[in-house]
Amino acid sequence: MALLAVILVGLGLLLQGFASEGSGAAHAGVIVLWPAGSFVVTALLMLASSRFGKLRARDRLLNRLALSGHETVLDIGCGHGLMLIGAAKRLPRGKAIGIDLWSQTDQHANSPEATLANAAAEGVSANVDVRNGDMRKLPLETSSVDVVVSSLAIHNVPTAAERAIAMREITRVVRAGGRVALLDIAHVSEYARELQRGGWTIEHSGITPWIFPPTRELVARKIR
Ligand SMILES: C[S@@+](CC[C@H](N)C(=O)[O-])C[C@H]1O[C@@H](n2cnc3c(N)ncnc32)[C@H](O)[C@@H]1O
Repeated sequence: MALLAVILVGLGLLLQGFASEGSGAAHAGVIVLWPAGSFVVTALLMLASSRFGKLRARDRLLNRLALSGHETVLDIGCGHGLMLIGAAKRLPRGKAIGIDLWSQTDQHANSPEATLANAAAEGVSANVDVRNGDMRKLPLETSSVDVVVSSLAIHNVPTAAERAIAMREITRVVRAGGRVALLDIAHVSEYARELQRGGWTIEHSGITPWIFPPTRELVARKIR
């Protein structure tokens, strides 16, 4: 996106600079500069979102959980550990478990080692555990966690049927009374419907102001 923006801006400015006023090439320069401008704005928004916004969105979502500090929190599709590490910082007597299948398409340089290094850098190694696993078949016991969190991960599961399986896996591993807190760029109403079918009540659903492209948040509680 940023590269495309730079190429279009360069092309537009070249056409504007070298073509004579009112010529076809000068008009083409103006036409190229319009989409170039929107690419520049989009690239800047995405950069700001990735550098600062995701952390704010994470903290805003975790604040909603008001963790007491002794919970077991599972981050599905943890990647480099955005939610995992944020949760671990709030769990002085608890544990944060991250599972991921380490797709290199969804996240650059994705590996358990990279996530553990991030946890060490943030001083939370002692209560972080990272495992290989697929959110459609979670490697955890039934009713073994208090909270499931996930950020920008579930939409990577390719079909609605498979995402429903992931939701049922969340329902299986969370204890009655436990919570789920999710951020995602797509399919969030589908997750909410599937959770409600599984006996959850939706506590919050809305858009986070901190991530571009627009991203929805969902918090729910398992009733039975
Ligand atoms: C865009 S990254 C987001 C990583 C991290 N949660 C964050 O917000 O920065 C999506 C992550 O989901 C993982 N993922 C995709 N499909 C998965 C699946 N079926 N089970 C577990 N993890 C999955 C990918 O490997 C990747 O680490």
